[in-house]
Amino acid sequence: ERVAAIIVAAGRGERAGVAEGPKQYRRLGDSTVIAQSISHFREHFAVEAIVVVVHADDGELLSRACDLADAQVVIGGGTRQESVLRGLEALEGRSFSRVLIHDAVRPFVDADIITRVIESTDGQTGALAALPMPDTLKREAADGTVLETLPRQGLWAAQTPQGFPFDPILEAHRKAHAEGRHDFTDDAAIAEWVGMPVRLVEGSADNTKLTWARDIERARRMIAAQPR
Ligand code: C5P
Repeated sequence: ERVAAIIVAAGRGERAGVAEGPKQYRRLGDSTVIAQSISHFREHFAVEAIVVVVHADDGELLSRACDLADAQVVIGGGTRQESVLRGLEALEGRSFSRVLIHDAVRPFVDADIITRVIESTDGQTGALAALPMPDTLKREAADGTVLETLPRQGLWAAQTPQGFPFDPILEAHRKAHAEGRHDFTDDAAIAEWVGMPVRLVEGSADNTKLTWARDIERARRMIAAQPR
């Protein structure tokens, strides 16, 4: 199989505080969030090409944050979904049979997760890293009380990377775009929408998405605690 990876990093990261800039460019130990994320794919034996999708305004932040020697940089769109589509189109016609899609703001992915996702895909089947829900889920009523309790049995929280057969996921993204469906929050949902089976594989509790300012602080403590 020929595997490529798309790292989406074109978000504005507004929930982490605009003043400090998008969270994917924050420092993390002696590196940055985005450089850490990219490095796991660069170092993985099965990944042959990397596309990094960034915001048009972030060229300078990007070149300061990471070494892009062997990566292709593509300008993203207004939604994550649009950014992924631009990344897929950059890889079109280069005979990749599988593609991994990963959020730049998940710097704690590891080689085992990447391997599990790749190995769980085939020519018709996608796969995503996920974790079984540890908490009981509540649906809220309009007045702030509990409307109902959802059985957590069988519920998983989706992470990235998510892996797919290349041509089918590009086709699925194009179909979503053509039909004006811009509300998918991950690529596995687009696969599901076109009827592609998607396998759940074990992610990790460390592989969280850095969304809020406090997530960056926690990530820095994790890096500081890692053995050198
Ligand atoms: O905003 P959210 O946390 O869902 O973003 C998840 C990932 O998608 C981030 O890595 C972000 O940079 C990326 N993204 C993107 N283009 C957008 C919005 C988000 O590449 N327009």
